Amino acid sequence: MTSATHSQVSALIRHRRSIKPVDLDSSRGVDGALLTTILEDATWAPTHGLTEPWKFLVYRGAARQRLAATMQRVYRETTPANEFREDKLQKMGENPLLAPVVIACVMERRGGAKIPEIEEIEAVACALQNLQLSATAAGLGCYWSSPPLLDVREFADWLQIGVEDRCVGLIYLGWPKPGLKWPRSVRQPVESKTRWCDD
Ligand SMILES: Cc1cc2nc3c(=O)[nH]c(=O)nc-3n(C[C@H](O)[C@H](O)[C@H](O)COP(=O)(O)O)c2cc1C
Repeated sequence: MTSATHSQVSALIRHRRSIKPVDLDSSRGVDGALLTTILEDATWAPTHGLTEPWKFLVYRGAARQRLAATMQRVYRETTPANEFREDKLQKMGENPLLAPVVIACVMERRGGAKIPEIEEIEAVACALQNLQLSATAAGLGCYWSSPPLLDVREFADWLQIGVEDRCVGLIYLGWPKPGLKWPRSVRQPVESKTRWCDD
């Protein structure tokens, strides 16, 4: 097996950034074989009981317009007036068209009572990190979006997912715009997040 060195993996993990749809090249599609490899990489995530509770609904081409229109419709129909925001509505209409690929990432309940729901969601989150790292290694930009709309039943019905299933995120994916300045981010020192227990 040819494997990346630890320092290469570490560099990839630290290089990954959330790249917003506005920073993606909407005119440049993503090759289907590359997408399949990235999704396969996602499925190599750990999964308790090997339930593999993920499902990827991939929207490309005109399907993105239907996705955008549906998000706007459901947002309009289900958001209480005091929470409604015109800028959010507009973004829902724009974002899926700015990215050449939008993946609705679903936790499909597979484990029955044996595997708690949270563990199925955690497994999907692991898969989505795999997906993002694989996409980053390929030179793609991606971004995990989780608008409250994802938990609205009307939207889940449109996605045609089961009543026990949950769409945990929309991953926007595409090639970064030429010349994009790669975003920077910061993390707290790991010491502040660690308690060492040695004896
Ligand atoms: C479960 C999850 C949900 C997220 N949902 C959103 C979102 O709805 N909107 C958003 O702007 N970013 C969202 N993000 C991305 C974070 O904002 C982003 O990871 C964070 O700002 C750190 O930036 P980085 O990804 O470039 O390191 C989400 C990330 C995770 C893990």
